[in-house]
Amino acid sequence: MPDAKPEDSHIKARAAELLAQMTVEEKAGQLTQYFAFPGADEQLAGVEAELRAGRAGSLLFVSEAAEIDRLQRIAVEETRLGIPLLFGYDVIHGFKTVMPVPLAMAASWDPEMAETAQAIAAKEARAIGLHWAFAPMVDICRDPRWGRMIEGAGEDPYLGSAMAAAQVRGFQGHYIGAPDRLIAGPKHFAGYGASLGGRDYDEADLSETELWNVHLPPFKAAIEAGAGNIMSAYMGLNGVPASGNRWLLTDILRDAWGFDGFVVTDAGAAADLETHHFAANKEDAAIRALEAGVDMEMAPPREGGSAFRTLPEALKAGRISEARLDEAVLRVLEAKLRMGLFEQPYVDAERAQRVLNAPEHREVARVAAERSVVLLKNAGDLLPLSRDVGSIAVLGPFADAARDMAGPWIFRQDDSETVTVLSGIRAAVGNDTRVDHSIGVSVPKRMHPSIFENPFSPPLPEITVDDDVEIERAVALATEANVAVLVLGEAQIMIGEHASRSTLNLPGRQQELLDRVLETGTPTVLLIMTGRPMDLKGAEPDAQMMIWYPGTSGGEAVANLLFGDAVPGGKMPYNWPRNIGQIPLPYAHLRSFKPEEEHMRYWNERNEPLYPFGFGLSYARFSYANLRLSSDRMAVGETLNVSVDVTNVSEIAADEVVQLYIHQRFGTSARPVRELKGFERVQIGAGQTRTVAFTLTPDQLRYWSAVVRDWVQDATEIDVFVGGSSDADLTARFKVTA
Ligand code: NOJ
Repeated sequence: MPDAKPEDSHIKARAAELLAQMTVEEKAGQLTQYFAFPGADEQLAGVEAELRAGRAGSLLFVSEAAEIDRLQRIAVEETRLGIPLLFGYDVIHGFKTVMPVPLAMAASWDPEMAETAQAIAAKEARAIGLHWAFAPMVDICRDPRWGRMIEGAGEDPYLGSAMAAAQVRGFQGHYIGAPDRLIAGPKHFAGYGASLGGRDYDEADLSETELWNVHLPPFKAAIEAGAGNIMSAYMGLNGVPASGNRWLLTDILRDAWGFDGFVVTDAGAAADLETHHFAANKEDAAIRALEAGVDMEMAPPREGGSAFRTLPEALKAGRISEARLDEAVLRVLEAKLRMGLFEQPYVDAERAQRVLNAPEHREVARVAAERSVVLLKNAGDLLPLSRDVGSIAVLGPFADAARDMAGPWIFRQDDSETVTVLSGIRAAVGNDTRVDHSIGVSVPKRMHPSIFENPFSPPLPEITVDDDVEIERAVALATEANVAVLVLGEAQIMIGEHASRSTLNLPGRQQELLDRVLETGTPTVLLIMTGRPMDLKGAEPDAQMMIWYPGTSGGEAVANLLFGDAVPGGKMPYNWPRNIGQIPLPYAHLRSFKPEEEHMRYWNERNEPLYPFGFGLSYARFSYANLRLSSDRMAVGETLNVSVDVTNVSEIAADEVVQLYIHQRFGTSARPVRELKGFERVQIGAGQTRTVAFTLTPDQLRYWSAVVRDWVQDATEIDVFVGGSSDADLTARFKVTA
């Protein structure tokens, strides 16, 4: 690993030198990434044959140091040119040490923390020999039916951009090839988060207004942060499959944004251009992906091999340009050179063990989990609980579910070192407090299995109980206890890729368990473990916290929050709908006919969400005052400063996420009622006041308008809102002059 950023000219010269020695087959090989599933011996033998023949440039899904080393030795020592392989992997929120899921990290509103968490994920993954994370996922999502919402930062482009850039910095460090870091691959370019009906893999149909203003900004932010790779999406965007979409992959990505890394398709998305009935056959698919701007095909095992295998033929027949082929190969070679693979291709297995077991990684995971939990309700200040509360009934199918704590996209964790909510509470209570546990109802199951059901490890033993009997036991424990803590939600296999749902109900018989426990009248804390809003059918627990999938140290974090050693400070990264029929319900919507009147939108439902974007409670209370603008007018192109005094009017030191929203009152296009344009998570001591300042720049006031089909900044009037949620009411106004 180079310990300083290598000279660009040096990298480019070495890549060109290599290219000059390559056959067309070897070039196509460098552009092909094969699946190498552990245990799939027959398939692996096929991949090894391709590798020896110089027809593989990269592998994914190998996640053991010794196996990476073995395969790398084949590439380096047994192929004609000895070009090392690039090993990619879904390092989404941790490798061995599991960090909270990305949506949870967004709920921390703490980009620095997300950066630190991903730096640790990168360090562990790099130590075992991986080079490249298929992350961060930066798709904006406004439809929680889409299971992949959990992989992103929620519904807002400003928060999404901050989290995208932070994660790229965390994965990659200051330059590609920095020690202990990976290449970051923001995905899925672009629009996947808007798949119709939240159905995974389905098409997206987005206006350019929506694309430029909402879906593209996090990609741009990730690229500006230096991301070395981009993954092109599966689905069709406005009728053109994203992985064959030249407008996206060349006009925007290269020409408008100047991206100079390499583009990989999502799994099989090049060959799938044929599945879309866009390309005529596999060769046509390969040609159109390449010509659109794809550099590398991620090729799952398929009959007849990869699509890019057909490129040598296509070149001979004059159906692709050699210049375009070479350009793609150079980008891949440059990535390998920048990562220092030619100097240090192999893995130090002993060091890897030490890195994977570093105790400080678990500590970061705990802090990250504490910072991402969102307190949604706390009637009568039930929380924090006293350690000497006497008796606690810890109930529910996810109270002691180590595997589920980790969430989706985790394959190399150590379940035995994961602290569950139950074990966290047990370790934290005082000697005189009794903790009883019942699972209440069986862990709910999917109706149809997931493609991710244990591809890497043997299935966990299924915990099934007689629900009728266990519910009664749980209710009896709740009745006897002084407090009930219920952990409900979705099993990790119910969310993520291939995990969209048509309802937001608690799966299985969890609602029944919830209702029955609430009937006991025992004060109840509901902890929701999932990555999307759940429809609780009006159930009203006294206190409610969104704990997401909090990772390896999650149980410790949750216990610290329950007993007040940590104070919740997370905020919702999406609007939480009252029921599924309201979807999509973005907070940043446009005004129209009678905007303020209730029941104008649905006669049976309110206009507002249950919990607004940006909302989250604390054990402390904050008051906002003295909203000040540096001026009541500014000219187009100038900046304006906004500041506000935030006072912690409680006895408890705590964090508050101070948020700044704007609304443009008139202009070339109509603009959303509110748009996030600044935030800062600050710690404020009991009784203390902090002044928080923001700068509004021309960049933040610009938007893409369908009227001029370009970016504009209007001469207009702008309302500013500042507070601890998107429904903040402290407001001021300024003029923007021409
Ligand atoms: C498909 C997913 O869409 C993508 O996010 C992931 O990185 C690849 N498979 C590889 O696992």
